[in-house]
Amino acid sequence: MATIRNLALSLLPVTETAARAASSWIGRGEKEQGDGAAVDAMRAALAQVHMRGTVVIGEGEKDEAPMLYNGETVGSGSGPEVDIAVDPVEGTTFMSYGMPGSICVLAAAPKGSMFRPGPAFYMDKLVVPAPARGKIDPAAPMKDKLHALAKALGKDVKELRIFLLKKPRHDGMIKEIQAAGATVRLQTDGDVSGGIMAALGTKVDAMMGIGGTPEGVITACAARAMGADMFGALAPQKPGEAEAIAEAGLKVGQWIGRDELVASDDVLFVATGLTSGDILDGVSRSHFFVESESLVISGHDGILRRVRTHQRADD
Ligand code: FBP
Repeated sequence: MATIRNLALSLLPVTETAARAASSWIGRGEKEQGDGAAVDAMRAALAQVHMRGTVVIGEGEKDEAPMLYNGETVGSGSGPEVDIAVDPVEGTTFMSYGMPGSICVLAAAPKGSMFRPGPAFYMDKLVVPAPARGKIDPAAPMKDKLHALAKALGKDVKELRIFLLKKPRHDGMIKEIQAAGATVRLQTDGDVSGGIMAALGTKVDAMMGIGGTPEGVITACAARAMGADMFGALAPQKPGEAEAIAEAGLKVGQWIGRDELVASDDVLFVATGLTSGDILDGVSRSHFFVESESLVISGHDGILRRVRTHQRADD
C-alpha cells in the first residue's frame, strides 16, 4: 500500500530548495532563468526522496518554459510508487518582476490516482470551502451557484468574494458575479494560491474560472486534503488544443469532480513562498540565514502545517 503520508518531511525540502534557488532571480526580468533554477533544484531534491515517483503533471509545455517532463521518473528508486505533480514556480511573472504571490509547489498521491489531462493546457475550475462541499452544481447559472454558496456558508450573496484570474476570457463571469451582488478578487496570475484561499475560506469564498491544467490538478490535491470541494472542466484556449483533447479521448467542458481529479485521501500538498503573498511569506536572506515559509497539507489526517525554515546562509 502506498504511504504518501510518510513523505511529508522529505518532500518539504523539495519546494524549499526550489524557492531558495529561484530567489536569486526575483525581480531580474528573467522568467525562464528563475523557472529553470527552480526546476533544476527540484529535480535534484526529488532524487533524495525515498520513493518511486513519476511526474504525471509537469509544467512548461504551455509556455514552452523549462520543465520537469511528464513521465519523468523521480525519487531514489525505492519506496512507494507515487504520482507527482509539480509547478516549480507558480507565478513566473510575479517572480520576474518582484511582485507578490509567487510560490514553488508540488503535490503527491498514490500511483495512478491523479487525473491525466493529456494534451489539455487549460481547465475551468471551481473551488469552494468544506461547508459547501456537495452543495454547488458547477454547471448551474452563476446566480444559482452564488446563492447556493452563500447558503452553505451562512452568508449573504453580497458578502461573497470570488477569486478569478484577471483575463479577458473572464470579463463575462466577472460581470455576472457583480450583477448577482457578490464581489470579485482579481489577480493576473496564481490561481493555485486563489484555490488555496478558497479551500480554506480565507480572504475569498470561492475560486472560479479558467487557468492552467497542472495548477488545477495540484489545487485538487490541496482541496481534497482540506476537505474542500473542487470541480474542473477542460477548457481549451490555444489553437489545436480542442482537437488534441478530442484525439486523446477526453471531453471538453465536462465537469470532473474532486475525487476524480485525485482519487485518494492519501495526498500531500507542499508549497514554499518565493515572493511574499496572500498565503505565504517569500524567501528572505540575512548574513547568516536564508528564511522561507511553507505549507504542508496532508490528506490522511487533514492537517495543514505552516513551517518556517532557517537554512544556514553558507549552504
Ligand atoms: P506561470 O507560473 O507558468 O506563469 O503560470 C501562472 C498562471 O497564472 C497560473 O496560476 C494559471 O493557472 C495560468 O498561469 C493561467 O495561464 P494563462 O496566463 O496562460 O492564462
